[in-house]
Amino acid sequence: MQKVRKSISNEFNAVNELIIAQLKSDVTLVGDVGHYIVEAGGKRLRPILTLLTAKALGKPRDSHVKFAAVIEFIHTATLLHDDVVDLSQLRRGRPTANAEFGNSSSVLVGDFLYTRAFQLLVDIGNMDILENMASSTNIIAEGEVMQLEKAGDPSTTEDQYLDIINRKTAALFSSACFGAAVLNEAKSSTVVTMRNFGLYLGMAFQITDDILDYFGNPLDIGKHLGDDLAEGKMTLPLIRVMQVGSNEEIKLVEEAITKKDRYAFKKIIEIIECNDVIEYCKGIAKKYRDLAIAEIEDLGSNHASEELRRLCQISVNRVS
Ligand code: IPE
Ligand code: IPE
Ligand code: MG
Ligand code: MG
Repeated sequence: MQKVRKSISNEFNAVNELIIAQLKSDVTLVGDVGHYIVEAGGKRLRPILTLLTAKALGKPRDSHVKFAAVIEFIHTATLLHDDVVDLSQLRRGRPTANAEFGNSSSVLVGDFLYTRAFQLLVDIGNMDILENMASSTNIIAEGEVMQLEKAGDPSTTEDQYLDIINRKTAALFSSACFGAAVLNEAKSSTVVTMRNFGLYLGMAFQITDDILDYFGNPLDIGKHLGDDLAEGKMTLPLIRVMQVGSNEEIKLVEEAITKKDRYAFKKIIEIIECNDVIEYCKGIAKKYRDLAIAEIEDLGSNHASEELRRLCQISVNRVS
C-alpha cells in the first residue's frame, strides 16, 4: 500500500489536508468525533482508487482531490453508523467512536460527514457524479438494511450475501472510480469500464474482509475478530459451511447464528478449518479480482494502471 500511495503522494497529501480542513465546525463535538475517527488512519483505499483512476486516464485535477475527499467522507460516515449497528468496539486499532463518545454522537457526526460530502459534491458541480453518488449512497443504505434483515438467519444464500456486499461495499468502490473517470472527461465506454472495475474490486475486498473477521490478526486489522458471528451475520465462510459441512457442523452454525453467539467462535473456526471453506472463499474473491483486472485490460500499461492492478492483488492478499 505504501508503494501505491507513493505514486500519487502529492495528491494524496492534498486529499488528507482537505479532509482535515472540511472537518471544521463551530460545534465542538463534530470536530472531536470527526478528528477522532479520521486521525485514527485507515487505509484510505477508496480515495487512492480515485486518484489512481485519474492518473491512469490522464492527469489528476483539483476536482479529483475534492472528489477523493468526498468518497472518504462517505466511507467514514458509513463506518460511524455501521459500528453502532454492529455494536463494534474496535476500529482502526482504537475504541470505536461509539465506544468512546456514545451511539448518539456517532450517528449524528456520521450525518455531518454525509452531508458535508454532498456539500463538496455540489461544489464540484457535475450532475452525472451527483446523480451517481445520490444513487450509490442510497444503495449502501439498502445494503446495510438488507444485512440487518438477514441477521440471525442461517438460511441466507450465497446470492443474497453477494447482493448485500455488492450494495454495502462495492457500490462505493464503483463510484470512486466512476467519478474519477467522469472528471477526466473519459469517453463513456471508459467510464463504464472504470465503474465495473471498482465494483468487482469492492466485491473482492469485502469477501476478503469477511475472511479476516475469522482469521485476521486483530493487531493488523484493527478490529475485533468474531464481530460478524456476534451480530449473527451469515458471511461467505459460514455460507460455505452450510453447503459442505456435516449435519452436526451445520447444526452448530445454525445455533450460533440464531443466538448471535460470540462464544461459539472457537468451535466455528475448527469447523471452517475442517472443510474447504477458506480456499473456497478465497477462490470467489480471486474470481472478482480477475474480473476487475480483465475490465482494465485495454487501459494500456502506464504506471498508474499498473498500480491499479497491484491494488487488485492487495485487496485479496491483504492482512490489514
Ligand atoms: C472497512 O473498510 C469497511 C469494509 C468495507 C470492510 P476499510 O478496511 O477500507 O476501512 P479503513 O478505512 O481502512 O479503516
Ligand atoms: C462494511 O460493513 C460496509 C459498510 C460500512 C457500509 P462491515 O460491517 O462488514 O465492515 P466492518 O467489518 O465493520 O469493517
Ligand atoms: Mg461492521
Ligand atoms: Mg466485517
